[in-house]
Amino acid sequence: MKILVLGSGGREHALVWKLRQSARVSKVYCAPGNGGIADEADCLPVELKSLDAMVALGQSLKPDLTVVGPELPLTLGVVDEFTRRGWPVFGPTKAAAQLEASKSFAKEFLQRHRIPTAAFAICDSMEEVRDALAHFHAPVVVKADGLAAGKGVVIAASKEEAASAAAEMLSGKMVGEAGARVVLEEFLKGDELSFLVLSDGERVVPLVAARDHKRVGDGDTGPNTGGMGAYSTADIVDEQMRDWLVNHIAKPVVAGMKAEGAEYKGVLYCGLMMTALGPMVLEFNCRFGDPETQPILMRLESDLVDALEASITGRVSEGDFKWSQDASVCVVMASGGYPGTFEVGKKISGLDEAGAVEGVKVFHAGTSKHDGDFFTGGGRVLGVSARAAELETAVSRAYEACGKIRFEGAHYRKDIAGRAVKK
Ligand SMILES: Nc1ncnc2c1ncn2[C@@H]1O[C@H](COP(=O)(O)OP(=O)(O)O)[C@@H](O)[C@H]1O
Ligand SMILES: [Mg+2]
Repeated sequence: MKILVLGSGGREHALVWKLRQSARVSKVYCAPGNGGIADEADCLPVELKSLDAMVALGQSLKPDLTVVGPELPLTLGVVDEFTRRGWPVFGPTKAAAQLEASKSFAKEFLQRHRIPTAAFAICDSMEEVRDALAHFHAPVVVKADGLAAGKGVVIAASKEEAASAAAEMLSGKMVGEAGARVVLEEFLKGDELSFLVLSDGERVVPLVAARDHKRVGDGDTGPNTGGMGAYSTADIVDEQMRDWLVNHIAKPVVAGMKAEGAEYKGVLYCGLMMTALGPMVLEFNCRFGDPETQPILMRLESDLVDALEASITGRVSEGDFKWSQDASVCVVMASGGYPGTFEVGKKISGLDEAGAVEGVKVFHAGTSKHDGDFFTGGGRVLGVSARAAELETAVSRAYEACGKIRFEGAHYRKDIAGRAVKK
């Protein structure tokens, strides 16, 4: 069968890599893809913000399955458009993707369905912000309602700081339209967990859990990024916790969406805070996470195509996934200056040597290829990933590989999975 993957990052490279391993797949296209993906799939240009462009691509390729990587095409309704034309496509509809596209929608949905989440207030003006802040204790979390590519959340140390962050958002200065409404949230303490499940609109099957590292600097310092690395092990969550998360979070979400007429099919990514009072939902993503997908798929031993199809046809079951007990890790190598401004077009060397390290796969996130050489093409450049029986070994393999890769300005965290290794 022919598969089309929409997207251009490390997550999409991992999806392409895994989908190609299926005996059922004869051809993989990726649009727009990147330099590294082009070695494993036919890359085609497309504007992911244009529904018409994606439909035209679907019309010309007629893929047997389309897998949507990023949130933007989902929230534009690419799944609705493809489904209407009878083209099999993996992911939630535009209505279901509201769980990610609008944080206020998600919070009110959680409240309606009594699913644990931080106390919150939704504000459309500074007047509402000032009134609401009276009920909060510092620190206060201020979030832009709409999609902001990881740049729409401020953890404010004081109420004054919260008010000025909200003002920046509401004025459109910080994240444009996405900040026209803001959500104020109680600050939760704990360890974060990325808990992904596959749903067919009714049933829910958990994937293995992962933990990502959002801040740019070692020891969780500096500004938030799209994600600087992630790891997955067999024991991030035990069976009892996994069942609790399925029964008290994932299943009620899927049942609630169905009851509200917006059936949720696809991957539901629950961003959780494991607090002293139990797990609480920070947010939802309506797709595979990036970079969590890289370590998660490195542990997947069964056929990904079968699993994704089961989500579309309404037949997901525990048997869809066979997982390795191995640990896996992904270390993101980023451009100098990221997550602030950075230059692209820097030549990358050492990729072959890095890829030759045992258990290592280098996923490309932002690269281009010219005359056989790779160049940087984004903030996050590579996801250097490794798998091994022990997390410690996987981590040392990933860092050995990072050490062999060079490009001007390259930086990466040295402590991905560090706390888990120490335990
Ligand atoms: N209520 C909260 N308490 C503490 N930290 C939070 C809270 N909400 C979000 N965060 C932190 O901010 C990060 C980004 O928030 P999130 O809601 O996931 O938005 P996005 O991923 O869209 O930027 C989280 O990963 C978490 O580290
Ligand atoms: Mg998040």
